[in-house]
Amino acid sequence: MKSTILVIGAAGQIGSELVQALRSAHGRDKVIASDIHSSPPEVLADGPYEQINVLDKAKLAEIVIAHKCEEVYHLAALLSATAEKNPALGWDLNMNGLSNVLDLAREGHIKRMFWPSSIAVFGPNTPKDRTPQRTIMEPTTVYGITKVAGESWCEYYHKRYKVDIRSVRYPGIIGYKSAPGGGTTDYAVHIFHEALKQGHYDCFLSESARLPMMYMPDATKAVMEIMAAPEEKIGLRTSYNISGFSITPAMLADAIRVHIPEFTIRYEPDYRDAIAQSWPSSLDDHMAREHWGWKPDYSLQAMVEDMLLNLKKKVPVE
Ligand code: SER
Repeated sequence: MKSTILVIGAAGQIGSELVQALRSAHGRDKVIASDIHSSPPEVLADGPYEQINVLDKAKLAEIVIAHKCEEVYHLAALLSATAEKNPALGWDLNMNGLSNVLDLAREGHIKRMFWPSSIAVFGPNTPKDRTPQRTIMEPTTVYGITKVAGESWCEYYHKRYKVDIRSVRYPGIIGYKSAPGGGTTDYAVHIFHEALKQGHYDCFLSESARLPMMYMPDATKAVMEIMAAPEEKIGLRTSYNISGFSITPAMLADAIRVHIPEFTIRYEPDYRDAIAQSWPSSLDDHMAREHWGWKPDYSLQAMVEDMLLNLKKKVPVE
């Protein structure tokens, strides 16, 4: 039987685009999309789909073994804002979900796996600008705590059980094909939809909340490249800093105004602003660049141009 690729949490913001990229690269039938929903969203319906709750270890094992899923992308998680509303579930899903996948790798069923970490591993005591790969972390959100613990757990499984685990610390991800779900950085996607629909956006972060961000094609490229790199190039088994551009809501609004001059924005910061304030403004990603050749393609301006071009095709403007 030929081996297959499994994407867990495939209906999410990154998953739905990653499945498309993997299916283009390896063939539709080779990539099994899975999520907790009983049926796939339309974007995933062109290939195999399995309903998996990653906390159901028996069902997960059954699928991985039955379909010989030797490469697994484990993306299912509660993001920062949602996890703050239900910390116990955030801990359970993010930690035990990861453990269940790592155990299948330890048992030899999974040969190589990807799991995303996040800028949320850092906290208010972390140096904010060009945050180093290795520095004070001390996250204050349950999401960030699960990502720090998860990174160490991955490294432990690599050292102790030789699990080939690869990971990057994603910044906020901006894309037009899929919706983000429950993150602090979601504003950077919503703002485009509202700019096109009503020329105005009420922003839940303050105007100066500067965060690292990345355009989706770069986010997909990072995961494809780190997974394709020879094993000896992956010198870090916690997670790599990767960086795109670093922006505030005000900078993003200005960049949108270049294309939509009448666009307005109002700032109404809520609890998510405090989360944003605890995260880095920009990241130093030289280790990813040196180890496996990471390099982003998109600047803020290039991303805004491409987002608006593609969303205009989708959003009917009155
Ligand atoms: N985009 C994520 C969030 O805001 C960060 O990893 O939760």
